[in-house]
Amino acid sequence: MINQPHVAIVGATGAVGREMLVCLEERNFPLSQLTLLASARSAGQTMTFRNKDIKVQELTDKSFEGIDIALFSAGGGISLEYAPIAAAAGCVVIDNSSAFRMDEDVPLVVPEINPEAAANRPRQIIANPNCSTIITLMGLAPLHRAFGLKGIIASTYQAVSGSGAQGIEELNEQIRALVEGSQVHTKVYPHQIAHNVIPHVDVFQETGYTKEEQKMLHEGRKILNLPDLKVTCTCVRVPVMRSHSISVSALFEKTPSVTEAQEAYRDQKGVRLVDDPSQGLYPVPLNTTGKDDCEVGRIRLDQVLPNALALWVVGDQVRKGAALNAVQIAEIVAARL
Ligand code: A2P
Repeated sequence: MINQPHVAIVGATGAVGREMLVCLEERNFPLSQLTLLASARSAGQTMTFRNKDIKVQELTDKSFEGIDIALFSAGGGISLEYAPIAAAAGCVVIDNSSAFRMDEDVPLVVPEINPEAAANRPRQIIANPNCSTIITLMGLAPLHRAFGLKGIIASTYQAVSGSGAQGIEELNEQIRALVEGSQVHTKVYPHQIAHNVIPHVDVFQETGYTKEEQKMLHEGRKILNLPDLKVTCTCVRVPVMRSHSISVSALFEKTPSVTEAQEAYRDQKGVRLVDDPSQGLYPVPLNTTGKDDCEVGRIRLDQVLPNALALWVVGDQVRKGAALNAVQIAEIVAARL
């Protein structure tokens, strides 16, 4: 039994890594020591945690000796290479990349939905799901428990911070160029993102869907343990800095009513009902930014599909869609080390 684990963040200087640091601090995570790892470029830089400066170290094969839990958010390539090294050194890896998510012997966990899955980790690797999938399922899980989910038709409205610091920079630069009347440059996205929306997140596959869109299908099935769940999704990049929004029509086994659906959110952890459209009350991305809770609103009967509800879910994808979810998984692991 380890009283207080030694925790490492791999990719500590990235957008999600920094947020992990914030979440560990805010949640008063019980750790004995925190090691920050990144590329050689950042080695020697200091980051503040609990009023103390910690030096960032270069990630190497030897980084994991003595570490109990490692939170990875440095991209799929780094995870593929270093997660097995960390696990072999006796560390539990919580990986934010898509590298292991669909592996049968790697659990895919949203703590409010399937916390028990974290205990069954033969490779000592636990995967953190895709950000849009987490936020959508946070909105749907209470309804699934009440009515039995059968299918999802979703459109996402994804913030530019989902593409890391470079996405934010591109939107800011383009807005500046438009205001100044200078030339707009595009580097990160296939089209100008300022004053635009782009129905293209991640790479297209033979089916005509993108990889991001298929994550909602495959990861949704795995997390909810619903192998027959049907999902159609369109993922769209929008000129919003932070927080993803998702418009969902959800099909159920039982006939839902709007009132029962609203009731289903009572006392649920991590998701809040904000649903009084006559008063202008519904979730918007600026209101969830920097917050832990996802928000759900605009709940109404779907006018096309039987036994279906239409709703709108919003959540901070850097927090609940990535860093916070990983830290919550770490809390489950730490409690049982
Ligand atoms: P660094 O800042 O030293 O490049 P983001 O997704 O926000 O761009 O963050 C990526 C994170 O992954 C950063 O912390 C980055 O560190 C880290 N990273 C990228 N390449 C490597 C590498 N080769 N070894 C270790 N960390 C890496």
